[in-house]
Amino acid sequence: MGFFLTFEGLDGSGKSTQLRKLAEHLQSQGLAITVTRQPGGTHLGDRVRGLILDSKTEHLDPRTELGLMFSDRAQCIAEVIAPALHGGNVVLCDRFTDSTEAYQGGGRQLGSEIVLRMHETMCGGLQPDLTLLLLADFDKSLARARRRNNRTAAAGQDEGRFEREDADFYRRVYDKYREVAGREPNRVVIIDGDRSIETVHREISDLVESKLRTAGVLPALPGAGVR
Ligand code: ADP
Ligand code: TYD
Repeated sequence: MGFFLTFEGLDGSGKSTQLRKLAEHLQSQGLAITVTRQPGGTHLGDRVRGLILDSKTEHLDPRTELGLMFSDRAQCIAEVIAPALHGGNVVLCDRFTDSTEAYQGGGRQLGSEIVLRMHETMCGGLQPDLTLLLLADFDKSLARARRRNNRTAAAGQDEGRFEREDADFYRRVYDKYREVAGREPNRVVIIDGDRSIETVHREISDLVESKLRTAGVLPALPGAGVR
């Protein structure tokens, strides 16, 4: 029931921009859409997000960080994602467990196994129907994220803790994302994020519409399947 779609990629790869545009596009087709994000997405999740992303949070043990990400996610599944899917909605989620595998598993070097085990325990193994992995130029993505975080910091919202990490950290995140995509080619689709916002949007909306038709969430096109 419903359809669960996640967006993944490095900071600044264009996930949030593309998610917003896709949500508007699908809504205009009369679909019921639920938009959420991790960390955040619930009242408790927003508090966890503040804690994890605040650059004043120091000495956070990687396993504590891992546990906080999964606490946030379990709450978001219980409060937002599961009820929306049961109601038949299309759920668009900005980051999910692949982020934890990439950032805590890869970046923080905890490895994939602990992340996948925690996913089973904390999330009941819930898997997205489709994951769009936005891969854009490494340096450009991080520079875009920094500019955006500087803007939000100027508005009083400090979300800069991950920005302190060096290029090696982000290289490990990037490599882990590619590993996940190679391991799960049926679920994870790589999208080239180094094109204009509109071009990327068109590719994503065409792909998602076709998946929604196959899943029966959107009606089949007239004549489709008739030979
Ligand atoms: P993410 O959610 O992946 O961190 P955002 O969607 O917030 O990324 O994008 C980060 C910044 O880059 C924003 O200022 C956004 O307007 C800009 N941006 C997003 N996609 C593109 C693109 N394809 N080309 C140029 N700039 C982009
Ligand atoms: P987000 O707000 O999506 O960042 P951005 O818009 O810059 O892509 O996520 C905030 C940060 O949290 C981001 O640096 C990635 C990190 N993160 C993890 O390390 N593990 C996780 O499981 C999740 C969901 C996010």
